Amino acid sequence: MSDEFDAVVERVRVQASPDADERERLQRAAETVMERAREAVAALPVEAEVIQVGSTARETWTAGDRDVDVFVAFPPELPRETLEEYGLEVGHAVLPDGREEYAEHPYVVGECEGYDVDLVPCYAVEDATAIQSAVDRTPFHTRYLESRLDDELAGEIRVTKQFLKGIGVYGSNLRTRGFSGYLTELLVLEYGGFRPLLDAAADWHPPVKFDPEDHGRASFDDPLVVIDPTDPERNVAAVCSATNVARFQHYARDLLADPRIALFEASEPMPYEAATVAEALDRRQTTPVALRFSAPDVVEDQLWPQLRKSLASLTDELDRRGFDVIRSAAFATDATERTDGPESEVTADDGAEAVLFAELEVAERPAVVRHDGPPVHVRQHATGFYEKYADDPKVTGPYVDGDRYVVERSREFETATAFLHSDAVFDVSLGPHVESALESGHEVLVGDDVTELADTFGVQLARYFDPKP
Ligand code: UTP
Ligand code: MN
Repeated sequence: MSDEFDAVVERVRVQASPDADERERLQRAAETVMERAREAVAALPVEAEVIQVGSTARETWTAGDRDVDVFVAFPPELPRETLEEYGLEVGHAVLPDGREEYAEHPYVVGECEGYDVDLVPCYAVEDATAIQSAVDRTPFHTRYLESRLDDELAGEIRVTKQFLKGIGVYGSNLRTRGFSGYLTELLVLEYGGFRPLLDAAADWHPPVKFDPEDHGRASFDDPLVVIDPTDPERNVAAVCSATNVARFQHYARDLLADPRIALFEASEPMPYEAATVAEALDRRQTTPVALRFSAPDVVEDQLWPQLRKSLASLTDELDRRGFDVIRSAAFATDATERTDGPESEVTADDGAEAVLFAELEVAERPAVVRHDGPPVHVRQHATGFYEKYADDPKVTGPYVDGDRYVVERSREFETATAFLHSDAVFDVSLGPHVESALESGHEVLVGDDVTELADTFGVQLARYFDPKP
């Protein structure tokens, strides 16, 4: 079994390791970017250092990746607005066809010699605890890892990244909420390799905590905690969700029990067609409901937290009203499907769509709903309750059940459909951009109507109706 494991990992190691030619081409592109950046910086009235960061600076990228991260570190006393202005100036000079993106501050992304380049301004702070912006930590990460990694560990890191990509938990963007590159590198460093990391993860009992530099200070309330060696106040795994930690554990066990290359290969299911969705619904005898609307014009890292929050509020409200939710999901057109060229923003101004989807066990309730009042012995409240309803012809009761008054009132919405078509939908706490997107128009789909989502969201529906760990 161990031979089999080693053979699989060896194959992945070879596949995930860029060959000399790829390394050389990437390094050449990085040099071009840095050289242009240095020229642009020379034209500015301040000094700034151009640094290559991220996995390409550490030889830990997986073969075929085409992203290059270059930072420009400005003096910490520079005002924020000036930093932003200079940063964009350098960015546009280096990447004339680039577009602006926004994280903590704006930066430019674009293409150079076929590589996707992020050109990010940051502050050259003394140490990572003095950061003025989250990106100021990044150069410290590179320095920390550079001095600890060798070729052997870099290979282990590439295999680990490939595995995390294969099982769908790689990336710290807020749609994925998975393992970032830096986190992956720290975990491999902690355990000394891919296999020991897997062995340990198979037995993890979250919360799992690491403090590689024994800072021993801050405490975090996350399922996975890796205190940033370069910043005691930061959990590198802060965005990694409990679900993705559990997925990693599941697939660690799976790979150990049955080593196979497929677990290192990301795959999309065959998209469901309308008819396949209809079959699934017929089999399940549930009532699916969906709100379909134009995705708000914001970047993915803003969109996804709002979609999740909106979905959670909506399903809570459906549950509260007696329409029991068995499962739910948010869908949105991918950023990649949403852009129509390098000049366009990665946002939703081009007909991108989003869906809040919920599958109900109960779609219809009777005309009455039970409403429990206070215990009779709590005299003031109880009397108030009793008097409020005593002469109301529309309620049944008040009567006494146990020590409480109870009435049965008429239910506000007898069907989930009626609720979803009403303005009460806007009373649940939606994300602000989702709320305005819904307000400017949305469609309510119920039952077999949802099959029409298959045209746009066939893959998401396949994942929904045939879920995997
Ligand atoms: P990247 O997302 O490009 O990660 O961020 P990476 O380490 O280069 O990994 P891959 O191979 O491209 O996927 C570049 C650097 O920015 C910092 C890290 O130092 C990372 O190496 N960073 C990025 C963070 O600290 N946190 C994040 O969530 C993302
Ligand atoms: Mn990178």
